[in-house]
Amino acid sequence: MSTYTEDTRKVTTHRLIEMKQRGEKISMLTAYDYSMASIVDAAGIDVVLVGDSASNVMAGNSTTLPVTLDQMIWYAQSVRKAVKRALVCVDLPFGSYQGNSKEALSSAVRIMKETGAEAIKVEGGKEIKESVERILSAGIPIMGHLGLTPQSINKFGTYAVRAKDEAEAQKLIEDAHLLEELGCFGIVLEKIPAQLTKRVAEELTIPTISIGAGPYADGQVLVIHDMLGINKDFSPRFLRRYADLHTIIQEAVEHYVKDVKDGDFPNEKESY
Ligand code: KIV
Repeated sequence: MSTYTEDTRKVTTHRLIEMKQRGEKISMLTAYDYSMASIVDAAGIDVVLVGDSASNVMAGNSTTLPVTLDQMIWYAQSVRKAVKRALVCVDLPFGSYQGNSKEALSSAVRIMKETGAEAIKVEGGKEIKESVERILSAGIPIMGHLGLTPQSINKFGTYAVRAKDEAEAQKLIEDAHLLEELGCFGIVLEKIPAQLTKRVAEELTIPTISIGAGPYADGQVLVIHDMLGINKDFSPRFLRRYADLHTIIQEAVEHYVKDVKDGDFPNEKESY
């Protein structure tokens, strides 16, 4: 267990709401594979998100749109096997829940049955109301996602900050209230002004989790590859890099290549 939390109890959606009530910030990171998920869980993270950002950082796509439900299930199965304490939440990928609430339920059921995750996340507000209702009616916990919703990138045309104007901010506030009323247990707010996050966090009783949405949310989330500096090319203002793994890994691999070429690896002690 990490030095930060001694609490080894499994994190549940109810415990996240209690954390908001007592003012304890919620930590959340993405993970997509067994090894990374075990490290993140052992470090005391509260929520592991199997994000559809897997499409970018694992598969090299320029958007989250191509990742499929089967692929998300594969990533989530690996993560779930590793995680003991954190709540595991899985993104429903683009095209698996919008427009048809029966299909949305069947996508969510597949995630829950085939991965053992404890919750799913969906992007959008009023437009996906029916899907949210139907999934919740089956007892599947949902985390919402408002603001910059990367699955709608072709509608937005840019990854710039959202809800800067009054009309979009008002819609976001209404959507946040709607998601809470429907029964979602939390909402990710992505790339919106900090003061708007503050208002939403104060008005809602469920936790808000920020990515690029400032300090006033009830928790924070980052993509693990970004915060560990594995991606060198992605450096938005909101990102804090906690390591430079790109350099560390590249130097280690260069060292290995040299040792192999020089006949220095393996040595006698490393041989049978
Ligand atoms: O897919 C993802 O990683 C996400 C986070 C950015 C919140 O949705």
